[in-house]
Amino acid sequence: MFTKIGVVGFGQMGGGITQVAAQSGFPVTTMEVSDELIAKGIGFITKLLDRAIEKGKLDQAAKEKTLGNITGTTDLKDLAECDIVIEAVTEDMVAKKEIFSELERICKPETIFASNTSSLPISDLAAATKRPDKFLGLHFFNPVPVMKLVEVVRTIDTSDAAFDAAFEFAKSLGKSPVKAKDTPGFIANVLLVPYLLDAIRQYEHGLASREDIDDAMKLGCGHPMGPLTLTDFIGLDTILYIADIMFEEFKDSHYAAPPLLRRMVNAGYLGKKSRRGFYDYTA
Ligand code: CAA
Repeated sequence: MFTKIGVVGFGQMGGGITQVAAQSGFPVTTMEVSDELIAKGIGFITKLLDRAIEKGKLDQAAKEKTLGNITGTTDLKDLAECDIVIEAVTEDMVAKKEIFSELERICKPETIFASNTSSLPISDLAAATKRPDKFLGLHFFNPVPVMKLVEVVRTIDTSDAAFDAAFEFAKSLGKSPVKAKDTPGFIANVLLVPYLLDAIRQYEHGLASREDIDDAMKLGCGHPMGPLTLTDFIGLDTILYIADIMFEEFKDSHYAAPPLLRRMVNAGYLGKKSRRGFYDYTA
């Protein structure tokens, strides 16, 4: 059982993982590159906790306990004593490998390393360390505090002990973990990404309006968001990145990014985060 949790990255995913771990009673140390980004991450969590209090779903004491469990740091060395470190920085193989090789020098030998990557091979990341048996994927879904799924990804080197400990840890966060293998897209994105790409193709070819495509899946299939809204929510750049990795690996046209997606990303239409994607969020 883990007693100390480390997270690298205080963005949307790292912040969400920090929040659920702290709310589940774990002391969490989260590393970011600047004090401003740490303050931003803690500010976002505070806002969500305040909203939960307003809705009567949380009390003040629980909010304070959660925030008291969170320590922000700009120094990776503060993660030395953690039992598990979950990396959640941007999808950049070189940057992630640098972080893991530094963690390899810093952390105690028993520490389990996990990456929240949605698309990079876990075994390639593990190669940056000397503990591939204690290395795995812990893929959370956005928004982390809401989505129940965690894909626990094992490589050919991951030991049963490390896998089982991470699986139980995901359960202790109130999540419903699934067992996934180290293949591009794991389980969910292999199904989700071609669906989103098909919706973009449908829109690109003028077969329906963006609203009608979204309504068809929301109202006809009970999805909480239509595919174009969901692409805006996840980030067009993220979907393009995952699609390109899966296409490169499988050489299957299912995963080929539609030209419109690439044009939009190049033009800075990244979705909600850039305030414009398939829809306009400037208001
Ligand atoms: N962070 C934390 N909590 C959030 C949140 C956020 N960013 N956004 C919404 N919530 C919470 C709200 O506080 C609210 O909580 P309560 O029920 O406790 O009050 C709850 O979610 C519902 O929110 P809203 O009423 O404001 O809005 P909604 O009903 O439209 O739900 C949604 C919002 C949960 C995002 C919902 O639209 C949804 O489930 N969308 C689909 C999300 C999805 O598919 N995610 C997976 C993306 S794929 C991925 O992450 C993997 C990858 O590798 C690409």
